Formats: sequence, C-alpha cells, structure tokens
Amino acid sequence: MWSILSVAALVYAAAVSAVSTAGNRLLVVLDDVAEKDLYSQFLGDLTARGYDVSYETPRSEGLALFHLGERKYDHLLFLPSKVKGLGPNLTPSHLVNFVNADGNILVAQTSTVPSSTSIVGLLSELDISLPVERTGTVIDHFNYDVRSAAESHDVLVVEGPINIRPGLKPYFEIEGGVVAFPHAVGHVLGSGPLLTPVVRASATAYSYNPKEQAEVLDADDLFAAGQQLSLLSVFEARNSARVTVLGSAEMLQNKWFEAVVGKPGGNSFRTDNQEFAKRVSGWAFQEIGVLRVNSIEHKLQDSDELNPGIYRIKNDVSYNISLSEWSWDKWVPFSLPQDDVLQLEFSMLSPFHRLNLARTRTTGDAAVYGVSFTLPDQHGIFNFKVNYKRPFLTNVEEKNTVSVRHFAHDEWPRSFVISGAWPWISGIGATVSGFVGFCAIWMYSKPVGKKN
Ligand SMILES: *[C@@H]1O[C@H](CO)[C@@H](O)[C@H](O)[C@H]1NC(C)=O
Repeated sequence: MWSILSVAALVYAAAVSAVSTAGNRLLVVLDDVAEKDLYSQFLGDLTARGYDVSYETPRSEGLALFHLGERKYDHLLFLPSKVKGLGPNLTPSHLVNFVNADGNILVAQTSTVPSSTSIVGLLSELDISLPVERTGTVIDHFNYDVRSAAESHDVLVVEGPINIRPGLKPYFEIEGGVVAFPHAVGHVLGSGPLLTPVVRASATAYSYNPKEQAEVLDADDLFAAGQQLSLLSVFEARNSARVTVLGSAEMLQNKWFEAVVGKPGGNSFRTDNQEFAKRVSGWAFQEIGVLRVNSIEHKLQDSDELNPGIYRIKNDVSYNISLSEWSWDKWVPFSLPQDDVLQLEFSMLSPFHRLNLARTRTTGDAAVYGVSFTLPDQHGIFNFKVNYKRPFLTNVEEKNTVSVRHFAHDEWPRSFVISGAWPWISGIGATVSGFVGFCAIWMYSKPVGKKN
C-alpha cells in the first residue's frame, strides 16, 4: 500500500516538477477571487500543466512578491482590475525588481476597465505605451466578429497569428487557426531591441476611446492605428525573464475558448483561443523557448586533449557546443529557426574570426554545433565566444578563454624551405663565390715584369 502511494507521489512530483524551467509557483492577481470562474478552463489548464496557482486581490494585506529577499513566486499573472493603483506591494518598482530577480509576468488587459497605474508604470519602463486615460478599445470595421459585435465591431477576429519578423521560432503560429480578441486594448512599442510584437492589429484597425471620442473621430486624437497597434507583445529582459502583454484578457475566458466567430461576409470558424492561450502562457512562463548549453569542447584538430588552456598561432582547432531546448515537459535537441545562424567568435577585444557553426551531430536531447578553423597569426588572450540572443529564446552567452602563444624558436620552418628566402640565400652564395673567385684571380695573376 505504502509503496503504491509513494510511487504515486513520486510520479505526481515528477509530473509537477516537469512544467517550467523557471519554477511552478504562479500568483494570479485579480479583483475578486470569485472572478476566476470566468477563467476556469484557462486556469485549470495551467494547474493541469503543473502550476501551483495562488490567488490574491491587490487589496490583500499579505500580498508580497518577496520574502526575506527571495522571490515568493516564479510567475505573475495580472488579470484586469478596477483598482486604480495596485497598492504598496505591487508598485512598478516592485514589479521591475521581480523581473530583475528572474520572475516572469503576464499582463492581460481589457478595454472595459482602465489599466492600473502600476501596470502602466511597469509597461512604460519597458517602452510599451498604452492609450492616454489608460483605456481605449481596438476597433476594426473589416475583421470583427459578426455574431457578438455586429454593432460595436470591437471583437477582433485574427486569422493564423504569424510572427512579424522572419527568423523566429513559430511558437505562436497556429496553422489555419482563428483567434478572437474581444475588447482589446492596443499598445504601441518603442524601438527597444528586447521588444517583439507577436500579434499586430490589421491595417484597418484603430484605437478608440468611447468616452472621449463619442461623436466624431478626430484623426489628431487617434492614439494609434493599423499595424502600429499591437495586441500581443513580448519583452525578454537581458536576464531572460519575460514580460508578456496581452491586449485582451477576455480571450482567456471560457466563453471564448471554443466560441464560433464569423467575419463580415465570411465563413464561421471555431476559435483556437484555448490552444493560443496555452502557447501564450507557456511562452510567458518559460515552458518553451528556453535554451540550455550542455557542454562546450574545443581542441586541436589532430589531438584528443579537450579544452587545453593554450594554443599556438595558426593551429588548426575544432570547436563544438551542445544545445538543448525545453519544450513543454522535456529537453529536445535545439534546432535553429529558419534562416538563422549560430556563430562563434574568436576574439581578443574584437573578433578575429566570426564563423557560422554547422550542426554536426544530434544525441538524444542535444544538438551539437561545431566548426573547424585555423587560429589567426596573432598571439594573446583570446575567447571562444558564442553570443546568441534572439527574440523568443533565452539568451546564450558563453565565453571560454585561451592563450595563444607565438612559435617557439624551434618551431619555425628552416629557412631553406621558405621560397621567399631564396634570393637572400643565393645572395650569400653569390657573395661567397665572388669573394673566393676574386681571391683566386688575385693570387694567381702574375705581376707584370719590370721594364728595364
Ligand atoms: C566536434 O564534433 C565533430 C563531429 O562529431 C568531431 O569530429 C570533432 O572532433 C569534435 N570536436 C571537439 C572539440 O570535440
């Protein structure tokens, strides 16, 4: 009996730990704990994936993100709240500290209540701006759901979310999928390199504030329009912590998970909101797109000694790096996104070589990328450096330092072998034979006899 129980406990523990590489403590912040029934499928999916979900309201006394300087949670999920500020425990600086301490945050917003000032503050730290007055709804007269928003046009229907930039992993792409974004708030991204838009509004969408712009829409008052507006964006900090901003919290509610939506004059589709919500939360909480460096090896091409500390200039060396990627519940070999390259730099202050690594081998859960090259004709302290930072993937920055010495005096090739030395060698020969010849002529020539 006990053994069965303990086996069951072990299996459960394994299942629970196999969720995110960053931990499974998730705090959901929402106004009223009863509200979670609206999101029960989404939250149930998270629990089923192994998250240990706690709920707090912003007003709660005991709410703290840190305890004795340690994070109390690994991930935060903000559902919309009517509270203007989120209180003294959730100020923007607390949230920024949470991200600096490797915590992940998913912010879900809605146009039906203004975003909290803490959230607005956090987002502006990241160079993400929201409409003034902290509210505004995205309207699209061409891509709305005719069933639920025939009048208001504020339930957007987005077909097959696709990555904006090429060369990114297709984590958010659902082939032929349709996702509904009801009552979405659009945001505008600054130019920071850590920000990536995932779903942008279509060219015909615009942001509208029903309170201010009740009658006529004045183009000067427009917060943003078209592809400027993002509905879902992600921010990945330099420590690989993630902040995800989702314009529509309602898309996570049960009623949209398998709703049927239709575009004007088009067919009806069953939404893929459930699958999309899984991918968004999975990415946000580091269940996908997490890289691990298993090992780095470098050596002389014709030697078996691994990772020596010293090489000589112009040595032929080989370098291998083994990478795995966390995919929901297991490590898999990391394959590069399409059209992307992984590069090795051999650098002293600045790179002397920057070489593309090719996939040489795949073993179980790891892919090995390697390259062989000849060291530069320069001695000093060098680094084998892999600096791979891409949107959607955690950062890889690996540096292995080696010395590169010059030739020892007995390693130089003999001068007779160097064809460039031949003119000088023949110069010496010519001088020697010229001198000997001159002496011979001098000695054997008889002085001219005296005339008397
Ligand atoms: C790297 O991998 C290649 C191919 O498997 C192998 O030939 C080479 O010796 C390896 N180099 C190092 C430094 O391990």
